[in-house]
Amino acid sequence: MKKIGIFYGSSTGVCESIAEKIAEKLQIASSDVNTPDKISSMAANYDVLLLGSSTWGSGELQDDWYDGLDALKNVDLTGKTVAFFGCGDSSSFCDTFCDAMGLIYEGIKDKGCNFVGRVSTADYNFSSSVAVVDNEFIGLALDEVNEDYKTDDRINAWIESIRPSI
Ligand SMILES: Cc1cc2nc3c(=O)[nH]c(=O)nc-3n(C[C@H](O)[C@H](O)[C@H](O)COP(=O)(O)O)c2cc1C
Repeated sequence: MKKIGIFYGSSTGVCESIAEKIAEKLQIASSDVNTPDKISSMAANYDVLLLGSSTWGSGELQDDWYDGLDALKNVDLTGKTVAFFGCGDSSSFCDTFCDAMGLIYEGIKDKGCNFVGRVSTADYNFSSSVAVVDNEFIGLALDEVNEDYKTDDRINAWIESIRPSI
């Protein structure tokens, strides 16, 4: 069984509750669900990293991810499996929807990990996002502001898509 760790950044609790929901569905212990300040001390312990961030400002990382991403860049990620999830607002911030997922991906894309969990953009209404790579979201984009009724189905489909790899 691969060891899975979740690291999430959340300013008002939305991405935190998504992280907890994903953990529950994958039966990940709460001790393996942490904020990015724990990356330096804990990330090396895991085979699989599920990385979550909300997006703030105009397409910026959630605050905890500034240091978190620097820390992640210093972890040996070779051979690890990585998947992303993010929370945003596709209506008010349609030009920067869930950008933070893309920013984290940009920061670690050359570190030798195996990225899983891309999601089709077809079910979303937005204009642009740096989380879109080769016409797909690099991870699970969620919009609890406008489309919370879609969240459970989106999480379930994403989990099924990554399950064979984790
Ligand atoms: C000031 C402000 C800026 C935001 N900027 C963005 C943005 O650029 N892109 C986006 O998708 N969502 C943006 N959002 C929406 C948040 O990402 C969304 O509310 C999210 O659910 C917050 O999650 P959290 O509580 O885990 O931090 C913004 C929200 C606020 C209040």
